[in-house]
Amino acid sequence: MQPGAEALTPFAEPLSLGAHSCIAYRRGGKRLRISVIGCGYVGLVTGACLAEIGHHVVCTDNDESKITTLNAGRLPIYEPHLDKIVEQGRRAGRLSFTADVPGAIRSGDTIFICVGTPPTETGDADMSYIDRVARLIGAEARSPKLVIEKSTVPVQTGQQLKRALAVYGRNGGVTFQVASNPEFLREGSAVADFLHPDRIVVGVEDAETEKQLREIYQPLLERRFNCPVHAPSCPAGAAPPFVVTTINSAELIKHASNSFLALKISYANALADLCEKLDADVMEVTRAIGLDPRIGPQFLNGGLGFGGFCLPKDIQAFIRLAERAGMDFALLKEAERINKQRIAVLLEKARKALWVLKEKKVGVLGLAFKPNTDDIRFAPAIELIRQLTAENAQVVAYDPAAMPKAREVFPALRFAKDAYEAAQSADALLIVTEWPEFRALDWKRVHGAMARPLIVDGRNLLDPAAMRGLGFEYHSFGRPG
Ligand code: UDX
Repeated sequence: MQPGAEALTPFAEPLSLGAHSCIAYRRGGKRLRISVIGCGYVGLVTGACLAEIGHHVVCTDNDESKITTLNAGRLPIYEPHLDKIVEQGRRAGRLSFTADVPGAIRSGDTIFICVGTPPTETGDADMSYIDRVARLIGAEARSPKLVIEKSTVPVQTGQQLKRALAVYGRNGGVTFQVASNPEFLREGSAVADFLHPDRIVVGVEDAETEKQLREIYQPLLERRFNCPVHAPSCPAGAAPPFVVTTINSAELIKHASNSFLALKISYANALADLCEKLDADVMEVTRAIGLDPRIGPQFLNGGLGFGGFCLPKDIQAFIRLAERAGMDFALLKEAERINKQRIAVLLEKARKALWVLKEKKVGVLGLAFKPNTDDIRFAPAIELIRQLTAENAQVVAYDPAAMPKAREVFPALRFAKDAYEAAQSADALLIVTEWPEFRALDWKRVHGAMARPLIVDGRNLLDPAAMRGLGFEYHSFGRPG
């Protein structure tokens, strides 16, 4: 047992939050205190969900405006169910937000590092935020700490973290355990993904650290928590596997997972291009190959490709990481090249149908990189709109959630109040994000509103035969006609 570390004793606290009582964890009679550094997607969801399963959590960020927003009861991001569990955690006194990062470091027994690792010019992950936090933890810690990296980081970051903590940790007798605990949250379903993970991966160096992480996740491992997503009760299912490995392997698991997802999407997109040349239907092809459990049906949707703040930067960082290790990850480079091509493929379809883009009124349906989020980071729509406006098309855009963020990028762009207004007198409508509300549109009404009933469906959201039956010129990806 780590010197100074007391065994964690669960202490049942029957909180009236729905069917399940919450178990609060204590060390040496003192409640286990978790601090989360970084209140972005990963940090906020992690902090709020750890509080939801019974832990005492302080979330901190050096962006004071973010903390002010959170303490005012608002969220800086749009994520289903997150507002409810943040409110519940705050009301129960288990979740709080502070801009006092040093204070949060001193008060936490366990510290989750959830700061950003954005891409640098070279495509490498920018480690300066992690480095800054490591030095701060070293300088501020006054008691033993378990420091857990949750941000997506290149392999061997844990070793660097240990070294920084040792070098900057000069308060006598303070020891640090370091662990890796990558997250696999998807935006738009992050709360459900945290509470019902496919697996929990921990990279540790000793049994004690493994034990502490297992205790932190015990409610998930025993499926004993209050689930806001499936209230009043979760669908039956097995507990998530608890994968214990080394820190290096845990770090690599994250990059390898995301890169494989990207690879699968690009494979579907390469298939879509081939289907167009051979008059086959990519959706039928991918459905059939996906029935093979060795392949699986998910992440085989061809179209405009992957965007968002994870897959594009993680595949790049992984390629760079391999390069520095002396390996040419040509496979991933090709997946990235195929993905970058998707916008040009869509534009070529529009140009072929419209002949000239200049002065054409083009409605863009969808700005977010995927449905159920307001996130436009590395969203295909952004680059697409840039190219459309560069060719002097008159763009009118609509998105159910992401317009406020898109307005910051395109202050001069016309935004419609709904999809019908975006279609009004349009020469073409481009479907860029597969929001369910677009499938449910009154397409007869859209047909009547457009100057020319031309649809280019970048997400294969609609049924070609049905759309043509309504009198639309309809183009999509990898499907006949
Ligand atoms: C991803 C990983 O899924 C998640 O495990 C990790 O923790 C973070 O990165 P996220 O970025 O939220 O999550 O989005 P995801 O749902 O993976 O979609 C990524 C992109 O791929 C989106 O642009 C989506 O439109 C696209 N996509 C997804 C496809 O083009 N085709 C598909 O079949 C699936």
